[in-house]
Amino acid sequence: MTQTEPLTRRPPLRDPADRYVGKPVDRVDGPAKTTGAALYSAEYPYPDITHAALVHATVTRGRITGIETDQAAAVPGVIAVLTHLNAPALKPAPKQSPMNLSSLVSGTSVDYLNTDEVHWNGQPVAVVVAETLAAARQAAALVEVAYEEFPATVDFAAEEPKATPQKSDLLQSGEGKKGDAEAALAAAPVSLDLRYTTPPHHHNAIEPHATTAVWDGDRLTVHEGSQSIAWAREHLALRFGVPAANVRVIAPYVGGGFGGKSSLWPGTIVTVMAARATGRPVRMMLTREGVYRTVGGRTPSAQRVALGARPDGKLTSLIHTSVTMTGRVGGGPEQVTSQSRHLYDAENILVRQSLVQMDMVSNATMRAPGEAIGTFALEAAVDELAYGLGMDPIELRMRNEPDRNPIDGKRFAHRMLREAYALGAEKFGWSGRTPEPGSMRDGRWLVGMGVASAYHPAWLFWANIKVRLFADGTVLVRCGFQEMGMGGATAHAQIAADALGVPLGAVRVEYGDSELPTAPPAGGSGQTASVAASLLAAADKLKRSLLALAKRSPGSPLRGLRPRDLQARDGGLHPVAGTGESYAAILTRAGRDHADAAIGSESRAGQVAGQLKFMAQFLRDRRRFVRAAAGAQFCEVRVDPDTGEVRVTRWVGVFDVGRVINAKMVASQLRGGIVMGIGMALSEATLVDPRTGRIMNPSLSEYHVPVHADIPAIDVHWLDDPDPTMPLGLVGVGEVGITGVAAAVANAVHHATGRRVRDLPITLDKLL
Ligand code: MOS
Repeated sequence: MTQTEPLTRRPPLRDPADRYVGKPVDRVDGPAKTTGAALYSAEYPYPDITHAALVHATVTRGRITGIETDQAAAVPGVIAVLTHLNAPALKPAPKQSPMNLSSLVSGTSVDYLNTDEVHWNGQPVAVVVAETLAAARQAAALVEVAYEEFPATVDFAAEEPKATPQKSDLLQSGEGKKGDAEAALAAAPVSLDLRYTTPPHHHNAIEPHATTAVWDGDRLTVHEGSQSIAWAREHLALRFGVPAANVRVIAPYVGGGFGGKSSLWPGTIVTVMAARATGRPVRMMLTREGVYRTVGGRTPSAQRVALGARPDGKLTSLIHTSVTMTGRVGGGPEQVTSQSRHLYDAENILVRQSLVQMDMVSNATMRAPGEAIGTFALEAAVDELAYGLGMDPIELRMRNEPDRNPIDGKRFAHRMLREAYALGAEKFGWSGRTPEPGSMRDGRWLVGMGVASAYHPAWLFWANIKVRLFADGTVLVRCGFQEMGMGGATAHAQIAADALGVPLGAVRVEYGDSELPTAPPAGGSGQTASVAASLLAAADKLKRSLLALAKRSPGSPLRGLRPRDLQARDGGLHPVAGTGESYAAILTRAGRDHADAAIGSESRAGQVAGQLKFMAQFLRDRRRFVRAAAGAQFCEVRVDPDTGEVRVTRWVGVFDVGRVINAKMVASQLRGGIVMGIGMALSEATLVDPRTGRIMNPSLSEYHVPVHADIPAIDVHWLDDPDPTMPLGLVGVGEVGITGVAAAVANAVHHATGRRVRDLPITLDKLL
């Protein structure tokens, strides 16, 4: 297809000369992190700091009938034991609604320590504050709670048949249909109809959730490992009944987030409450078990994928339906079938998502919520169909690669899956694979090779930003985005340096503080593009005002020149051929020591207006075209035929992620996603006792994430072709890496062994 009309009528953002963008620049925060100078949220020193520990409910659903705290209070060093009987009042949680951003960060709607109700096994029912962490934890273990128990719903498998279909379509999550997929399936010469299941997964960021809360009168400062400082500020202000301007959330360093730190969980709320009750700064560092008990993770899923095809491989029917959970007290649907609207040019399509409500800690976003597990089912089923047809799985995908979005005929903003597979096949050596399962060996190991597609939608959000150019030629970028390890500060320093034509070392980026201009959460793989859009706009504004300033002087070589005649380079504005003026010269002559440009407004009304205008544009775009990151995952496994042990021995991933800002950081993001996907494929599962709803493996010794010995060298590539609808052509890379991984592993395991495992994780017992 040729795309003649432009995809967007918005003027293209100025494309700076790429001096830093695209380069594998070292992280600007690397030295602070590697020398220990970087402070994480549990490390802020306050002289009179106290320590908090949680007491968790041990029943699923019920009511507290008695709570005995005398023993705990008697532990030396204990300052307070807060329960629903004596804790300060909390304003009720807002009703969850997309129109109320502060409600979206509410992990659950429970009014912690303000109610005798227990809504899940693990909900905090008391908090101990003490002079030392040891005293707090010892005392917490001594709190005795009696309960009246109520019936509860905790067995996902038992609830699955009662699931109800999801409606809302703003996020394209409701039912989607083209033609009559069921009839086409029944009539298809070749077909399959399969069930896939995936377990719940839990967040295991290196830094467990931690909060340091300090009240000064009715002003609150919170050091919080958060992916969404602006929303956290709004939410805390609301719950504690103070104006948002009185709340400051500080998080320059976050030790991994992955979606688990997008919401505010009970640990945070209870810590702020404890600081208010005791009048002392309080630090809460959740134990690893505490994270399992109080922070939501990925939903379990049961999925149906049915495919119908003609003998030549052309898909006539694609059906993908899912059942997932939300908590009864919070959590939202995960977009399990989203990729199935976009990946294959099937003549008939049906996607549908259904939900059950469980009395568990609410589910939460976790790296590619939806697509991570949805691509497992879809891409494993496509592999099975390829075997049913006697066709190479890449060839089957290429025969069904669409020119337009399959379900509704919209255009793709950017789509290079053909190129991704071609490059991946070459790098991986796909042509050396013999298709017969069990046909490849390395000594006693069975060798298997599998492929799968990766897919994740591209998001853009509204970001406010301020950029200041100093007469000494340095630049300060101020934007309250979050850095949880992906390299945002470095990326935006690169972008600013190119846009303004100054050395990278001349740019300082301030972030991770809610006092800064409000930026979107680090979520949806959308933060870098969102901040980049505003940063480029601010840089343009700044250059225009510098030009105007220069033109006031009769002697300026810039007189008579228009913005489009100029380049920002060498620390100033210059005609394309020739010499203009340095920023220093322009500012000094004008008697100024700096110039400012701002995008967005910090007033409440200005924020709302900006956000609405931006959302309207985003939704308009979305009606016209589909934008996403995609990729091709290639996996090689070795399977021990006697023990069923699976080792991933090679990985190649090729991604269509638009323009890459920093090769080193993008490679790390994609590799990190693949590592997390390998964990999902082979070992990760949260085990829930179906009688009590209690998580049975709340530790890294029993919930197995991959370690270095589990992971081979991961070879990642990208096509580096800018997406014409995205700022600088960049598409977010945070989540696409995990998608397709579990299917590529499952497909490789099948190739090695002839066994199809449709229930994650692929543990060795399932191969024997
Ligand atoms: Mo994410 S799951 O958008 O941090």
